[in-house]
Amino acid sequence: MDVTVEPPLGMLAELTHRCPLHCPYCSNPVELAAKRDELTTAQWLEVIEAARDLGVLQVHLSGGEPLLRPDLPELVARASELGCYVNLVTSGLGLTESRLADLAERGLAHVQLSVQGADAARADRIAGAKAHARKVDTAAVVRAVGLPLSVNVVLHRANHDQVEELIDLAERMGADRLELANTQYYGWALRNRTALMPTPEQLAAAEPVVRAAIERLRGRMEIVYVVADYYERYPKPCMYGWGARQLTVAPNGDVLPCPAASVITTLDVENVKRRPLGEIWYESASFNAFRGEDWMRDPCRTCDRRALDFGGCRCQAFMLTGDASATDPVCSRSPDRSVVDGILAGEAETVASAGVPDFVMRAPTVTR
Ligand code: SF4
Ligand code: FES
Repeated sequence: MDVTVEPPLGMLAELTHRCPLHCPYCSNPVELAAKRDELTTAQWLEVIEAARDLGVLQVHLSGGEPLLRPDLPELVARASELGCYVNLVTSGLGLTESRLADLAERGLAHVQLSVQGADAARADRIAGAKAHARKVDTAAVVRAVGLPLSVNVVLHRANHDQVEELIDLAERMGADRLELANTQYYGWALRNRTALMPTPEQLAAAEPVVRAAIERLRGRMEIVYVVADYYERYPKPCMYGWGARQLTVAPNGDVLPCPAASVITTLDVENVKRRPLGEIWYESASFNAFRGEDWMRDPCRTCDRRALDFGGCRCQAFMLTGDASATDPVCSRSPDRSVVDGILAGEAETVASAGVPDFVMRAPTVTR
């Protein structure tokens, strides 16, 4: 089957891996890019221009913490001038009203704020920093400046019981959108899987609460709930297909078909310093590796759901089976589903015999 490759809709620009928080669920790679390896301002400007030429309409400035880059205003301005919708994905630490007003003036269109828990004690323990009160202030600043606000919460065993309070908090913050996303076990999060894995009881308790809130808040605050996929029968349609809609540029210029793709050690990762972005999107082996359906094997190859989930997540397939072209083992039709069942049983057994382990906090920020 020939694959028609459409232009990318969005670019996730990870400006830096440096971050003031130490969240145990961090999905960034275990090995972070050092400050000295980050793209320069001129290189990021070139990347933004090349992305726009390629058709990118949404630029998500992320990290780590993008506010740690002094050139953030310049990058926002360029992306906006070129006609992109510019989103800032932030911990909120360091986002003063004057700084945000300046970014808005330069064309910033949206702020996505991470929240770790519903109260300071819980949230600061998960973030590994005194951050919660400052995030509440940041939300007020976003409202004062008049930008739309999304609140993002990563859910796991240590905050799942707070789902209702988290929805209340997002409402009080004036969020337009709340994403409640169960942890995905990539990068650093994999190290903490036992401590992070929610129980089936927690998931069952959260579901009706979220469903009721979606109804109650319809038209006022959109709620997106991302399920805990290890417990599901079918995998998520990860990235809406590999190399289909979005590309990620890592702090060092590596260009990835998904933010977690550096876990696939068999992938020949390209870099903007060595190859033009357009060529990488259309022609590179890494972006073409899992486009379309030709790469699929049984059971995906003939499955009636393959146009719905694209065979699931390539990173998860690689991490759990060592083969990135395997069916996502989360799928109940996968010959490797027993791997996921074994993990769930193993995590539950560990907790039953030794208790919930302490978090291994995200290692200190990279400053070199
Ligand atoms: Fe999706 Fe493949 Fe499972 Fe079918 S077999 S549901 S295509 S992951
Ligand atoms: Fe990489 Fe799913 S996280 S393809």
